[in-house]
Amino acid sequence: MSEKEWITVNPGGSRRVIVTKELPGEHWKQILQDADCSIEICTDPAVLSNEEIIARIGDRCDGAIGQLTEAWNGDLFTALRAAGGTAYSNGAVGYNNVDVAAATANGIPVGNTPGVLTETTAEMAVALTFAAGRRVTESDRFMRGGKYKGWLPTMFLGKRFVGSTVGVIGAGRIGSAYARMMVEGHKMHLVYYDLYPNPALEQYVADYSAFLVEHGEAPLTCRRLDSVHAVLREADVVSLHTVLDDSTRHLINAEALALMKPDAVLVNSSRGPVIDEVALVEHCRANPEFRAGLDVFEDEPAMKPGLAELDNIVIVPHIASATVWTREGMSSLAAANVAAILQGYPVWDSDDISPFLSGEVPRAAPSIVNAKDLQNKRK
Ligand code: DGY
Repeated sequence: MSEKEWITVNPGGSRRVIVTKELPGEHWKQILQDADCSIEICTDPAVLSNEEIIARIGDRCDGAIGQLTEAWNGDLFTALRAAGGTAYSNGAVGYNNVDVAAATANGIPVGNTPGVLTETTAEMAVALTFAAGRRVTESDRFMRGGKYKGWLPTMFLGKRFVGSTVGVIGAGRIGSAYARMMVEGHKMHLVYYDLYPNPALEQYVADYSAFLVEHGEAPLTCRRLDSVHAVLREADVVSLHTVLDDSTRHLINAEALALMKPDAVLVNSSRGPVIDEVALVEHCRANPEFRAGLDVFEDEPAMKPGLAELDNIVIVPHIASATVWTREGMSSLAAANVAAILQGYPVWDSDDISPFLSGEVPRAAPSIVNAKDLQNKRK
């Protein structure tokens, strides 16, 4: 096990917090310093193993900020607890890498970072939709390869979105932001699948449709369908916005792909294992008019064999939340979660997390996913 480099900020702080990756911005450090924390940051870009994290936790550690690339399981939470630790935050909104039950069993609150990724991630899903549907990366490679010999009426024909149907699987915050961008930007009909209806989204589309009609244009529809498969069958573009759990692993498998239109666009900015990537490679090989835009991969950072060679798949390295504002915001929220727990503050009781993004932050933890479970455990 090679020794990774760590740096310490505010070494005089009385509380010890480890941070497994460098985070953007300065505000997050200020939040932890204001809570009298010394902050140990791993500066090595390689993913830390659990053994390395446990070694760093050592025999005294008050809190930790980890990343989605690490498996925060029972071993880590037991080690953190044994070292006196009482706070953990994921530097992400998703937390499928965290064994929340194990954290709860160890009495450790688990923070995440909602509220700052919504539009940013939706924007990337839109970018992937267009990059895939309008063949942007494929033609970029063509140009750079010196293959452009002059305009042709038949070159790189892609997909027109206006007036067609967008399908969203998972109409939570990010899914509905994506839906609104596609509906309003491109006058698309919407079909979605979610366990729960989203009346705000439905109203949004109804209002926009009424506005279009008032201005002499065709109305738009929004329908919640009763299954994922129904959405796959109907939509011209499908974007995935589910969490990853046992019910969504390989949700998009060979059978599901076979239901989609042969020239559909499939976008994934949720979690890689929601798609059976081997089946997708096979499907894209067999259906050259089908296109996919992927931000996430089943065995990240690896891709399944053959995927990188397919021109009808656009790939980016899990960067849907990668804007300066969002990543700095995520860092502030993760730091505020840990700082608040260490100081005994309650959980913030609003969805508006903006007060945590600059200056002095409220005396509260912005988002703790197991707050209720911990409360029940104490009863
Ligand atoms: C998250 O926060 O869950 C994202 O995947 C990071 O971009």
